[in-house]
Amino acid sequence: MIPQFIGRNVYDLDDYSREEIMYILEATKGMKEINTREYKKIPTLRGKTVCTLFVENSTRTRMSFELAASRLSADVVSFQASVSALQKGESLQDTVYTLNAMGIDLYCIRHSSPGSPQLVHKYSQKPVINGGDGRHAHPTQALLDIYSIWEKLGDLKGLKITIVGDILHSRVVRSNLIGMEKLGAKVTVCGPKTLMPGNMESVYGCKVEYDLGRALSGADVVMGLRMQLERMSEGLFPSLEEYSKHYVLSKDTLRHAKPNALIMHPGPMNRGVEILPEIADNTNSVIVEQVSNGVAVRMALMFLILGGKA
Ligand code: CP
Repeated sequence: MIPQFIGRNVYDLDDYSREEIMYILEATKGMKEINTREYKKIPTLRGKTVCTLFVENSTRTRMSFELAASRLSADVVSFQASVSALQKGESLQDTVYTLNAMGIDLYCIRHSSPGSPQLVHKYSQKPVINGGDGRHAHPTQALLDIYSIWEKLGDLKGLKITIVGDILHSRVVRSNLIGMEKLGAKVTVCGPKTLMPGNMESVYGCKVEYDLGRALSGADVVMGLRMQLERMSEGLFPSLEEYSKHYVLSKDTLRHAKPNALIMHPGPMNRGVEILPEIADNTNSVIVEQVSNGVAVRMALMFLILGGKA
């Protein structure tokens, strides 16, 4: 049976089955082919309007949503929070009512508050794609990460994937754990105890390690996470130097992983803190490809949700 996506929201991957995730990956493959053409545009969403409603900073996610919509020929409205009436005290509710009055068909939102995508749907009655809500979820990042692994290594079933860094504050890791678990990967998360929630095994079915060597042992895929420098003031670890000493991804620490282990990072990276350039830029790194795949994944989602014509 062909999965139905028209009009659906993408709050997180727990709303999507294994079959639906696989369907999105196949659709992404088709979109990636379009992105390699000289004329990278198809008319499938002509007449539709997509709004990127970003109330928190972003480079990759916002630009790739906008590029994805343009490549499908939708009109794009880019809401810039810093120069909007939000600065004059207008609420999110009135902001959405205002945007809706202009005929938006799909919202892509980033906000520091978990649950904001659900609110935007409630106020707009239009489909919403979550581009990151607080620490909660970042489903399109997880889909592009999963796609990047699937494209290089095939079926995720049985792959050992190690995710290293600030697990506590990461919405990327939460969405990835849900999606990767559905596809049968064996995921290990690793970081300092102070940056590790207490219930990871029971909630997500992953393994927890505090020692980097053990976590990387035999890994097929290694993903570094951004050390969230703004959290330094919370005193969750003594210093960046101390963090790097124990958790940096380097040639030396990666000798524990499989020789050609895929290297990933959602970005933005702090080079020299969680990952060294010798790893970020090496031949096994797909960090740049993750960004390209992000455009294709978001094209696929918009196509499926807005009922684009093939
Ligand atoms: N990975 C990611 O979400 O990056 P941006 O913050 O640049 O969108």
